[in-house]
Amino acid sequence: MAHRPYIVGNWKMNGSRAALAEARAIDRGAQRYKDVSVALAPPFPLLGLLREEVTTIGVGGQDCHTAAKGAHTGDVSAAMLADIGADFVIVGHSERRRDHGETDALVQAKAQAALVSGLGVIVCVGETLAERDTGQAEAVVAAQIDGSLPDDAAAHDAALLGRLSVAYEPVWAIGTGRVAAVDDVVAMHAAIGARLAARFGDAAAKMRILYGGSVNGDNAAALLAAPGVRGALVGGASLTADAFLPIVAAASSGEG
Ligand code: PGA
Repeated sequence: MAHRPYIVGNWKMNGSRAALAEARAIDRGAQRYKDVSVALAPPFPLLGLLREEVTTIGVGGQDCHTAAKGAHTGDVSAAMLADIGADFVIVGHSERRRDHGETDALVQAKAQAALVSGLGVIVCVGETLAERDTGQAEAVVAAQIDGSLPDDAAAHDAALLGRLSVAYEPVWAIGTGRVAAVDDVVAMHAAIGARLAARFGDAAAKMRILYGGSVNGDNAAALLAAPGVRGALVGGASLTADAFLPIVAAASSGEG
């Protein structure tokens, strides 16, 4: 497959102006790995600053509103993200589903708004530990895929699908140091790929399926080599260049 691996750092509600030095170091380091697409999603206050400071990596938001503008205090629209030069937005992260009660339908509307604004979109899905332990993981993720991805009308053409990624992030693996077993990741990515193909046809092959949940420099190589894994969404290990660049290196074919 001609896809470049996509390694995205999600800073969540972490970072400061001082932390932009880490982002600059990540940007410089990423220049050594031209066969990898690298990106960071900092908190909103840092996004415009980061955009001005980096040349190689992509920058994106961690959420967006469904509307382009209007009376929605505290929210940020996809159009605003595009306007300041963001490349993409993450929607439907499990922490937003948990903290803000986001439903699949809301996540879908956000994803569609982001596509309309010209952004890349990373739609997050993943089961809880209770759901995995009771054998429901694939069914839960399938339902999230069905409900959270842009509808067929919004994602009708292959060019748009090329801007869409799905991040499979088992909730129990996020921030816990408990990474999913590679076999389970492979099985879930295959199930997601089949679901996407059934829905979008051959063009679904343009979509990237990323793994997220406790990815670090030690486990990245095995995860990224697994069939169907086209990148990683990284939380804690994206906050410093020392932690993040080894993951980028693991995604590279190796000329370094
Ligand atoms: P983590 O977070 O790498 O800290 O587990 C991943 C994510 O939530 O995207």
